[in-house]
Amino acid sequence: MCGIVGYVGQRQAADILIEGLRRLEYRGYDSAGVAVYGNSGISIRKKVGRVKELAHLLSQQPVSGTLGIGHTRWATHGGITDANSHPHAGGNGEVVIVHNGVIENYAVLKERLQSLGFVFHSTTDTEVVAHLIAHHYQEQIALGGDPEDKATALGAVQAAIKCLKGTYGLGILFREHPALMIAARSGSPLVVGVGRGEYFLASDASPLAGYTSEVVYLADNELVLLTPDGIDLLHRDHGQTTPSIQVLDQTEAESDLGSFEHYMLKEIFEQPATLENALRGRLDDDAATAKFGGLNLEVHQLRRIDRLVLTACGTSWHSALVGEFLIEEFARLPVEVEYASEFRYRNPPLSESTMVFAITQSGETADTLAALRESQRKGHPTLAICNVVGSTIAREADGGIFLHAGPEVGVASTKAFTSQVAVLALLALYMGRLRHLSYTAGKRIINHLRAMPDVIQKTLDCDAAVREVAEKYFHADNFLYLGRGYNYPVALEGALKLKEISYIHAEGYPAAEMKHGPIALVDEDTPSVFVIPHGNMYPKIMSNLEEVKARKGPVIAIACEADQHIASVADDVICIPSVEDYLQPLVATIPLQLLAYHIAVLRGCNVDRPRNLAKSVTVE
Ligand code: G6P
Repeated sequence: MCGIVGYVGQRQAADILIEGLRRLEYRGYDSAGVAVYGNSGISIRKKVGRVKELAHLLSQQPVSGTLGIGHTRWATHGGITDANSHPHAGGNGEVVIVHNGVIENYAVLKERLQSLGFVFHSTTDTEVVAHLIAHHYQEQIALGGDPEDKATALGAVQAAIKCLKGTYGLGILFREHPALMIAARSGSPLVVGVGRGEYFLASDASPLAGYTSEVVYLADNELVLLTPDGIDLLHRDHGQTTPSIQVLDQTEAESDLGSFEHYMLKEIFEQPATLENALRGRLDDDAATAKFGGLNLEVHQLRRIDRLVLTACGTSWHSALVGEFLIEEFARLPVEVEYASEFRYRNPPLSESTMVFAITQSGETADTLAALRESQRKGHPTLAICNVVGSTIAREADGGIFLHAGPEVGVASTKAFTSQVAVLALLALYMGRLRHLSYTAGKRIINHLRAMPDVIQKTLDCDAAVREVAEKYFHADNFLYLGRGYNYPVALEGALKLKEISYIHAEGYPAAEMKHGPIALVDEDTPSVFVIPHGNMYPKIMSNLEEVKARKGPVIAIACEADQHIASVADDVICIPSVEDYLQPLVATIPLQLLAYHIAVLRGCNVDRPRNLAKSVTVE
């Protein structure tokens, strides 16, 4: 995991690095550090805690120079300590690096380096890489290489990365090279920002917005040399290659907090607009279907598809579950939902006519990327439903659908979920209309979808009521979330939101399954959140609700405004607008996002940066 930044040019590097790290904090915030090349060589400042604490350290112990690298860490190997924070120096300080990824063979390499006399100051896998590069650098010099020659530095990096197993995005400085940074990528994303007389390095494009709009995305096994005079791009095995410069479509303003206290709240309230964006230009009234610009498959190929696999992680996996129900109902196509982390190592039987969709907000989740590649390796058309344009998955997929939800900063995903569900509903409509779904049914779905942004706007009115419920229950240690049919994934998502940001144990379950285990957890102190809007499953789930009440469990019901009965059985009711069954996940998720938010605030938790989590999980 972790976030990397780098700068070489004419400006003071530290300011740019700190701003970049702030924007990358979503990738990890256990510790942060920078290394800047100044008059007295490379100075390192690093510290456990958030980037703002590093900024404070820099205000007391400033570093000056126009070349530097920085890092924000999500700990994998080695505890959360100052010593384990990046950057790490190698050898006798000849090399300083930052690293995102996991070096799987670090233990063997460490033993070898220790036997050669290298002394370790941390318990990270990264320090192994730093010493390994230093070792090869020293070796090249011993063989007559000029330490100040770029080729010597590059040769050392090339020799070192040949020994690495695992994943890495690396930013590297050399003591003998006051104007050179080398970066290398395998498995962990890196992007180079191209300016005038200045170049930037980052794990994704967000730190570059406002500095440059021209970027080069590094492909796996590429290395790049950055100096104020330009960049040299190389492939590990094929040598020099021509960089493909792309224009960045991102503005700084999009990530502003505005008048909201937290990004999560801002993003919850953005959902009417983000849904509108997900639907924009995709409703085809004449043909009563959906239209997509980027599936990159001909209609006759899509008609041949007889099965879909949706693979994802976390919240995106929950939207995939909703997608399964939607696609099976409207397109009558069998759908399998797979955790990407499992799919990548399983060998499920997939026929030639199976289409695989990777669903991901960030487009960088390591397991989802590996699942996509595994599916492509086997020759399946592999598409993505993704939010971040320019992300690795967006670039590597054979085609796909963007969410257009704008940057999602809060670690707990909210607006991406509803956008994914909306896009999956469009996909179900589209695949359905290529098969048995009638014109009239297609028209009806279009009309329902078109109304959703307004419905979601109305749903947000429940905020004050949700806040009251949160005040009543925020001390609870356990919660159950229960739903059926389309609302079963909603229950899972509601429980996940609460766990993620308030650290309360919560279980999401299909309501009827509750009696096979979770009902044993019901007591007077364990609230059960029932997602029980009007619809096909209403009478069934009402029986489940009564079962909880009979055992004195407090019940919070997410129910339709028109429900006259619910207040007499539930302890608390949060009202939502009534919509068709298949659109209930879009509506019913909103109060659950808000409930998690308010409970977390009341418990004094860090809503946008919950402990141990990261927005983008770029390690497996
Ligand atoms: C992390 C985030 C979750 C997210 C999951 C999948 O765990 O904290 O909010 O749902 O990754 O991320 P993706 O970007 O692939 O949707």
